[in-house]
Amino acid sequence: MNARIIGTGSCMPEHVVTNDDLAKIVDTNDEWISSRTGIRKRCITDKDNTAGLSAKASKMALENAGIGAEEIDLIIVATLSPDYYVPSVSCMVQSEIGAVNAFCFDLNAACSGFLFALNTVNAYIKAGMIKNALIVGAEVLSKLVDWTDRGTCVLFGDGAGAAVVSASEEGGVCQTIVGAEGAKGMVLTCPGRSLDNMCAKEERQKGYISMDGQEVFKFAVKRVPQCICEVCEKANTPLEDVKYFILHQANERILFSVAKHLKIDNQKFPMDLHNYGNTSAASIPILLDEMNQKGELCRGDKIVLAGFGGGLTWGSALLEW
Ligand code: ACO
Repeated sequence: MNARIIGTGSCMPEHVVTNDDLAKIVDTNDEWISSRTGIRKRCITDKDNTAGLSAKASKMALENAGIGAEEIDLIIVATLSPDYYVPSVSCMVQSEIGAVNAFCFDLNAACSGFLFALNTVNAYIKAGMIKNALIVGAEVLSKLVDWTDRGTCVLFGDGAGAAVVSASEEGGVCQTIVGAEGAKGMVLTCPGRSLDNMCAKEERQKGYISMDGQEVFKFAVKRVPQCICEVCEKANTPLEDVKYFILHQANERILFSVAKHLKIDNQKFPMDLHNYGNTSAASIPILLDEMNQKGELCRGDKIVLAGFGGGLTWGSALLEW
């Protein structure tokens, strides 16, 4: 049996923040942000936290798939910005949508999270352990960003995307790849709580996202083409047969550079980062849903998904839609 995406959904917060809006709170401007990143605006939540956005995207995905919540066997939420340490976002989603028969866990592979979730669900389905899964990529990065740091606050946005993945005799995931290089993890960090207990005291760390942008850029433009070529080779599929390369929406220059490296037309790399910024684990399922709702994905199309980010982590998948 193959793992096939049979429905998608997404939820973007209503509140839109433009580059000009940001220029009112930090020393930046639209020209700097859009020329370096391609980002023009992003959605920032003022109501729903990560679980709320996830549940709304999940309800849409179930409706689009035409199956009931009680038919879901497994829920995985990929996020680096959960509402609580415990309960997990996935348990909160289960409760909100009524997926009473599902087991649930969260997964943190930063911006590669959706690929790690798809890889995991694929393995459960291939092992015959589950029939239907719900995978969600969801982030509220606005609560982890230092709004006085112009180097990071201009990059990120909030949102959630979801997909129903079911066992199918045809189509679906042909190959997936996931990888990590923990030794380089400190180039992109967001600290948790410091060690502060009856035995040990550490100085409290500043709890915001920080990043060595140029190192992340170098990592992405080297690793992403590699993992795309690897997944296609493993699936015996030439790059020319792929209709779309749906990549994590970090930065327009990264996507153009990957396209150039692979000698593939930019048109095959759809983008929505202009409107949403970098939504980490949510970016791929949000874009998938947009394309699905517009009817841009046809049965039988070969599609590559590729994620890359904190950890450092990366992942790719070749699917037949
Ligand atoms: N507005 C105006 N000036 C700024 C801003 C801003 N928002 N941010 C930084 N600057 C200034 C810096 O202070 C610096 O000024 P200085 O020369 O006087 O010191 C100058 O711009 C250059 O700063 P750099 O950090 O060197 O800028 P760079 O050209 O590397 O661009 C960027 C930064 C866009 C983050 C780039 O490194 C990049 O694209 N990195 C990829 C990483 C990425 O996209 N990360 C997203 C999260 S990770 C992920 O999703 C995988």
